[in-house]
Amino acid sequence: MSYNLLKGKRGIIFGALDANSIAWKTAERVFEEGGTFVLTNAPIAMRMGQIDELAKKTNSEIIPADATNIEDLENLVAKATEILGGKLDFVLHSIGMSVNVRKGKHYTDQNYDWTAKGWDVSAVSFHKTMQTLYKQDAMNEWGSIVALTYMASQRVFPNYNDMADNKAYLESIARSFGYFFGRDKKVRVNTISQSPTATTAGQGVKGFDDFISYADKMSPLGNATALDCANYTVSLFSDLTKRVTLQNLYNDGGFSNMGVSDALIEKFSE
Ligand code: NAI
Repeated sequence: MSYNLLKGKRGIIFGALDANSIAWKTAERVFEEGGTFVLTNAPIAMRMGQIDELAKKTNSEIIPADATNIEDLENLVAKATEILGGKLDFVLHSIGMSVNVRKGKHYTDQNYDWTAKGWDVSAVSFHKTMQTLYKQDAMNEWGSIVALTYMASQRVFPNYNDMADNKAYLESIARSFGYFFGRDKKVRVNTISQSPTATTAGQGVKGFDDFISYADKMSPLGNATALDCANYTVSLFSDLTKRVTLQNLYNDGGFSNMGVSDALIEKFSE
């Protein structure tokens, strides 16, 4: 159902790789709500993914950008405002990657070059994106910037590896940059802490399938889906949440406030 919540709003959506991506669902929902946007992803992901199909469906253009590369980001923001015909109202950062996770390196045996790469891609890229938007004065007043995070930033989830540290850093950037963006440009910055979701990035985590059902059993409302996350993001891009900023907002079916659930106790007594 569409409420026209984003009619007339313009933005950039990072991180749609395939139809499972949270950013993909978000682009579809933003489009349904009347928003216009530019899609972007790393040049290598363009070759692997199906982003062209999404661009067609949502009447949007694609501008490749490696989110760790300042020149790419400067080009992206300048071109996006040109294509969309003005400053931006929303930006979604939906990017995550750990080389240690990908190559099966344990948290206690990290390759620090890989740690640095994953940190740059997953966390510092958010700072780089916001700094570029801020310097180009590319956001409209009362605009909204959202990045996606996971609960392992706050509590221990051993298999999440160095992504836990990257997410903690990402959440801190949201608060720190959010202060300046709010004070100087009246732009809000938040992170959504999403349930485990079956996507390319999610499935890279060891034991993901068992883990996703554990989280589901632990949450009174069950795991939030990618579509749920897209809907939450739409609300944060809309004018209905104008003074929500510097927050880490849980979209997790209640998981983050649980100790144990009946469903899990039953599992153990089987
Ligand atoms: P996904 O694999 O579909 O999306 C990750 C995206 O990051 C891909 O499109 C990839 O191309 C992009 N990316 C990687 N390196 C990049 C670079 N250098 N420059 C630009 N883009 C780059 O997976 P998903 O799950 O949709 O991930 C989106 C966000 O949601 C990530 O921040 C992830 O950590 C977060 N998240 C995912 C959860 C899950 O269980 N899937 C749970 C909580 C948060």
